[in-house]
Amino acid sequence: MKKKVAFSLVQPSGELTIGNYIGALRQFPALQDSYDCMFGVADLHSITVPQKPADLRKRTKEVIAYMMASGVDPEKSILFVQSQVPLHAELTWVLNSITYMGQLSRMTQYKDKSQRSEENLNAALFTYPVLMAADILLYQSDFVPVGEDQRQHLELARDLAERFNHRYSDTFTVPEPLIGKTIGKIMSLKNPEIKMSKSDPDQNAYILLADDKDTIIRKVRRAVTDSCGEIRYSEEQPGLMNLLNIYAAFTQEEPQKIAGQFAHASYAEFKDALGEMIAQSLAPMQARYRDIMANGEELERIYKEGAEKAYSIGRKTLSKVYRKVGFLQ
Ligand code: TYM
Repeated sequence: MKKKVAFSLVQPSGELTIGNYIGALRQFPALQDSYDCMFGVADLHSITVPQKPADLRKRTKEVIAYMMASGVDPEKSILFVQSQVPLHAELTWVLNSITYMGQLSRMTQYKDKSQRSEENLNAALFTYPVLMAADILLYQSDFVPVGEDQRQHLELARDLAERFNHRYSDTFTVPEPLIGKTIGKIMSLKNPEIKMSKSDPDQNAYILLADDKDTIIRKVRRAVTDSCGEIRYSEEQPGLMNLLNIYAAFTQEEPQKIAGQFAHASYAEFKDALGEMIAQSLAPMQARYRDIMANGEELERIYKEGAEKAYSIGRKTLSKVYRKVGFLQ
């Protein structure tokens, strides 16, 4: 029997944070035995904001290396770079034709980004979620492991799949998001109201996968908490709640249990334990990452082979789509 398909991409638009790891990357390896998995780098998405070409090339490789370092096995999963499979852009055009402008203008990510800067309000920023739907639908994905911030984009992908199927007959699998309960949204260390993001101008707001132990401990010490002074897992203490979620995500325990363990500790003691724990958890991955990056040829072989495999799967979907809409074959 054919296995179900799990699919996810990560943008190379900055260095990866523990938010990317906890919300997405960390989920990937566990899916490899039960599903046909495809993971990759969304470089087409990343040019919706200006990128330096040399940095983009470098970070694209880094994202593949981090996926492997976190346990994605290229023998089991397809690892690829989006721009190396032209089908994504082709399917996007067809999906654009069934996407309503109103739907796109309601996307919170677009609203946030467009409010922040008027300067670079380009058309790709607006149609970004259509490209994301094309990524997912091209491979008939059943499951999409992502963080909570991508839920609305997933809803659009489901919507477009259903609309196309309804208009032209059954073509696409309708995908489902896989979002961790407490780990779906890791918040900024400086403001627990906003998500931890690699594009945050304040470097103390996030922990990078590449940060060394001293940096991690320093950033955790500076994280905002509150003046209550008591370690509890409560909505009323959102800063502390976020730190407990991070701790729980790394140790795979319930955050309430962690709060219990530290019930008699001070914030400073808890923060130091958290910093140590994050650094210790990341160290083996950082070592694997360095080894992978040191062997650039092997890395290149992996993502090029991945693109070929992805192409041969996606091609079937695209020709079906082209036939259904009435393009000559
Ligand atoms: P991106 O590159 O912003 O983030 C990559 C993944 O990390 C998750 N994530 C988080 N999870 C929890 N807490 C956080 N603070 C946090 N920050 C980021 C994201 O949810 C994501 O899973 N549009 C996507 C990339 C994409 C994609 C796709 C994903 C393009 N096409 C198709 C899945 C399927 C994005 O910008 O992710």
